[in-house]
Amino acid sequence: MNDRSQLSKFGISTQLSMLGRNPDEQSGFVNPPLFKGSTVVYKTLDDLQNRRNRFPYGTAGSPTIANLEASWTHMTGAAGTVLSPSGLGSVALALLATTKSGDHILVTDSAYGPTRRFCDGLLARYGIQTTYYDPLLGSDIESLIKHNTSVIFLESPGSRSMEIQDVPAIVAVAKKHGVKVIADNTWATPVFFQAHAHGVDISVEAGTKYLGGHSDILLGLASANEELWPALRATYDAMAMLPGADDCILALRGLRTMHLRLKEAERKALDLAAWFKARPEVRAVLHPAFESCPGHAIWARDFKGSTGLFSVVLDEKFKKDELSRMLDNMSIFSMGFSWGGYESLIVPFNCKDLRTATTWPYEGYALRIQVGLEDLDDLKEDLRQGLERLH
Ligand SMILES: Cc1ncc(COP(=O)(O)O)c(C=O)c1O
Repeated sequence: MNDRSQLSKFGISTQLSMLGRNPDEQSGFVNPPLFKGSTVVYKTLDDLQNRRNRFPYGTAGSPTIANLEASWTHMTGAAGTVLSPSGLGSVALALLATTKSGDHILVTDSAYGPTRRFCDGLLARYGIQTTYYDPLLGSDIESLIKHNTSVIFLESPGSRSMEIQDVPAIVAVAKKHGVKVIADNTWATPVFFQAHAHGVDISVEAGTKYLGGHSDILLGLASANEELWPALRATYDAMAMLPGADDCILALRGLRTMHLRLKEAERKALDLAAWFKARPEVRAVLHPAFESCPGHAIWARDFKGSTGLFSVVLDEKFKKDELSRMLDNMSIFSMGFSWGGYESLIVPFNCKDLRTATTWPYEGYALRIQVGLEDLDDLKEDLRQGLERLH
């Protein structure tokens, strides 16, 4: 069921259970069927010539794809959703839908690295200029708007550095100047932050993370409000970069447990972040629910919860050799990119090299922690032993 008016009266877990399936139309089976294919056939010449089919050809989608799109549209409160084969694909799609040659865009300095590369590479090649801005600017972003600024791109919290942005303040300035707002909402998901209700025009989610939840798919979703939906859909149709149907089925399956997994990730991450705070090796805990995180008050005002990804900054006396001793010998935490899966991950970073508009204030290494579904005591013990190896 994807009927917004009927579903909205239920709690979030009930909605996630009921979305995107209708046993009455599925021979009684609980889950929706999987449609794969390119060719769609027509009954008559007239139907063919007028493309009279819900999906004229496989690139326009399929019942499986439409099902996931409609489920996400419900979750985000958007006018429509299109999918991509990766989260980065959806970032690109959103930016291509809202820019043209000669435009200027504002992108948060805390954006996911490949988002920056897309702006500095492909968009620049097509004559679109990017200015990076301090994620904590709020309404002062107005001073950076030029006559040709078309988009403000947000990511809140920021990749790795975790700053929370003042979305309503930025949206107010954007609206005043006719600028569109895109937000990468992957961390919070629509369960914990309703981007469109806060004025965002296009919200992007790397479904690879919490929607998939099992590190076995790559998927992106971009949802748009009424005004930008036609442009987003037209841009998608122009390229037809769509995910495989099997991955959409896995994403629909991920929907069912997403709230449960998020709540569990939230609980464990809050516990571990508090534990890190008390460790002598740690200089700062960057978790949006902690006061030490830049923008924490905005998180408390706008978000309904926190997820399982946060960072800690280590004392700068720990260099690469000490860090190798810690990370090369972990028992449960693995080193690897991405997050939102059932397995715990740890990645060292220093944002210095990525920043152009702001200065990352820490000299030493920081660790990004993705909290998986393993037992909390085991995770803590693995981290305790790891931190001890730093000495
Ligand atoms: C905040 C954020 N947005 C987008 C992406 C891109 O997602 P994908 O890996 O599906 O391309 C990532 C991936 O790590 C991410 O962290």
